[in-house]
Amino acid sequence: MAGELAGRTVVVTGGASGNGRAIALACAREGANVVVADLREDPREGGRPTHVEAAERHGHGARFVRCNVRDPANLEAAVEAAEAFGGVDVLVANAGVLQKRPLLEITESDYAFVMDVNLKGVLFAAQAAARRMVPRRRGAIVMLASIAGLRGTGGYALYNASKGAVRLLTSSLADELGPSGVRVVSVCPGIIDTQMNVVDDPLIGTEAGERYRDQIPLRRWGRVDEVAEAIVFLACDRASYLTGTSLTIDGGYLRI
Ligand SMILES: NC(=O)c1ccc[n+]([C@@H]2O[C@H](COP(=O)([O-])OP(=O)(O)OC[C@H]3O[C@@H](n4cnc5c(N)ncnc54)[C@H](O)[C@@H]3O)[C@@H](O)[C@H]2O)c1
Repeated sequence: MAGELAGRTVVVTGGASGNGRAIALACAREGANVVVADLREDPREGGRPTHVEAAERHGHGARFVRCNVRDPANLEAAVEAAEAFGGVDVLVANAGVLQKRPLLEITESDYAFVMDVNLKGVLFAAQAAARRMVPRRRGAIVMLASIAGLRGTGGYALYNASKGAVRLLTSSLADELGPSGVRVVSVCPGIIDTQMNVVDDPLIGTEAGERYRDQIPLRRWGRVDEVAEAIVFLACDRASYLTGTSLTIDGGYLRI
């Protein structure tokens, strides 16, 4: 798929690390300028900052904007930064956090943390992008939901609720923005090998992880490049009639 995003500008929230980093790099490989909007510049997993890597590997425009997605003004500034490259064509609302907490231990600040990043941060990123896409009558918004937004699991009430909400936000915004030529889709990844599953809520490399992996038809964890390739497709013109839907990328785990 060489050059599928040539001349386009892609804003990726949470683009410093993990899935977001792979998404930004795959979009740059396909010819896009990228704006990486993140709390931090350095990848959690190590390596050079995504925007530096994107520019040096692929030679297109790339910049970093420090952004806390919990603050709509930060999101507005991140999307505005894309104007330097001609304006946002694709938003990937990727920044997210995972927190495991039994219901009886959840506090209001846990609620605010998970919901602010995973839901409010997606909604206001979409709003900032739509403000610029609607007048131009084109654009694509891709949101990171999760298989955790399709099926609930004990201990993950906030994460499940936030991701389920993102999935429904996809269909709501697709309905609202479709007449203006803006597509809205989401992806529901399964367990992908990122710091989220190694550090934040360790599953990969544990015995519980082994048992989980045995339930995945492909018998392995997903890779960030596998999420990124799906997103390149969803963001580009090859997916021009795709909106209001979610793509599950889970090695067959859920099978629904
Ligand atoms: N890894 C998985 O198994 C998996 C599965 C399904 C969905 N997802 C989703 O993919 C997305 C990315 O997750 P990941 O696995 O790459 O995680 P990660 O922790 O590797 O990367 C997340 C990035 O988001 C940034 N971030 C966190 N809070 C932020 C904030 N308030 N403002 C701006 N940036 C912020 C972090 O700094 C980091 O660079 C998340 O929405 C996550 O829920 C991940």
